[in-house]
Amino acid sequence: MADGRIAVIGTGYVGLTSGTCLASLGHEVVCGDVDPDKVARMSGGEVPIFEVGLEELMQQGIAAGNLSFVHGSKEAARGAKYVFLCLPTPDGGDGRADLRIVHQVVAEIGPLLDPGAILVTKSTVPVGTAKEITRTLNRDDVSVVSNPEFLQEGSAVKNFMQPDRVVVGSDDRVAAEAVAELYSKLGAPTVITSAESSELIKYASNAFLAMKLSFINSIAGLAEVVGADVTEIANGMGYDDRIGNKFLKAGPGWGGSCFPKDTKALATIALDRGVSFPLLGATTVSNEEAQDRMADKVRESAGGDLAGVPVALWGLTFKAGTDDLRDSPALEVALRLDTEGALLRGYDPTVTADLPAKNGFPAIKAAADAYDAAAGAKVVVLLTEWPEFADIDLTKVAEVAPGAAIVDGRNMLDAERVIAAGLRYIPVGRREVR
Ligand code: UDX
Repeated sequence: MADGRIAVIGTGYVGLTSGTCLASLGHEVVCGDVDPDKVARMSGGEVPIFEVGLEELMQQGIAAGNLSFVHGSKEAARGAKYVFLCLPTPDGGDGRADLRIVHQVVAEIGPLLDPGAILVTKSTVPVGTAKEITRTLNRDDVSVVSNPEFLQEGSAVKNFMQPDRVVVGSDDRVAAEAVAELYSKLGAPTVITSAESSELIKYASNAFLAMKLSFINSIAGLAEVVGADVTEIANGMGYDDRIGNKFLKAGPGWGGSCFPKDTKALATIALDRGVSFPLLGATTVSNEEAQDRMADKVRESAGGDLAGVPVALWGLTFKAGTDDLRDSPALEVALRLDTEGALLRGYDPTVTADLPAKNGFPAIKAAADAYDAAAGAKVVVLLTEWPEFADIDLTKVAEVAPGAAIVDGRNMLDAERVIAAGLRYIPVGRREVR
């Protein structure tokens, strides 16, 4: 048990998961948020996000008395030994992370922190932020430590409880070790570094994974042209330990709240320092091309023109296991199809209401299920890898959308079965089976 209370400021995906999991390790945790309604709901054990296993753990923590929620950052930080900053760091519009919220909170809580308190940056922040916070704080008796999260939406609790590694960075070794100690029960490899290395480890990890995905998606494009199969290629590559078999599934591009923002932010960090890093720009461009190729497939399946063509979208979230639509490749593809005049109807297990037009993205009518979405469609495009799509009744699809083409953007369906049902099957990165 830590010899002091933990405050978590910000209860988004990262803050709520981290706070709840730290409490489940036995620490005393108080989470603060600016939204009083959300605080009231969380205090009643309600989880505002869709995250496997989180609600149960949160309710256990509240019942055990070592997890609570308060309104405001000052209320949470007062008297705490560890203060985790889990605040949004959105894209500032120029590729740089916008740190205004982080700085505002530091200014608010700085003067009231207890001597010996440790301020921990958990949000993804640019290199140099720990130093900058140290300067703004201007307190010799408070340490600043970087402790990036590596949580995947949909498996955040598992990622927290069984981490591949815990990374802690600071110029104050004692403070870094104290933060690492909070995770000691997990028995994970612990990497203690400088603050700058720790901050860069987070960006480097996310950008590397995004690059791996862009690479396999470009290989998929090439495979289609030369008559190869991207799933066979990924399998053959993955046996090499140095490459690994994870993150090699081709698809409609990658998205989410981290990869797009962090890849751009790292590119800007390098650019600002005059360091050439062309892979990062190419990673983003390749991703846009993967989305373009998916839209191309839909257009070709419709006979070359999408104007007035009913198209069903299976899956809208940026990946399965989450209700998050932020930077979703499915919506990027939808935007391309809408621009060409397609009539879109979408189904996603987590989307129950019609999506309004927002931030340049088109309005999408929400169907009750995959069959409802497919009814009358000329093309069905599978965009998010929800497991239920693998078990879809293809005969039923053929009944509601006779002769439709299925563009399988995640290579989830069995070609023979689709064709046997009387539908056309267009996979990604492999030859179309006729
Ligand atoms: C990511 C990182 O994995 C996590 O460590 C970090 O803390 C936050 O960003 P997340 O945004 O939840 O997590 O998504 P992730 O599971 O990594 O998937 C990102 C995107 O890549 C999704 O759009 C997903 O569909 C896509 N993807 C992933 C593929 O297209 N193919 C794959 O093989 C794996």
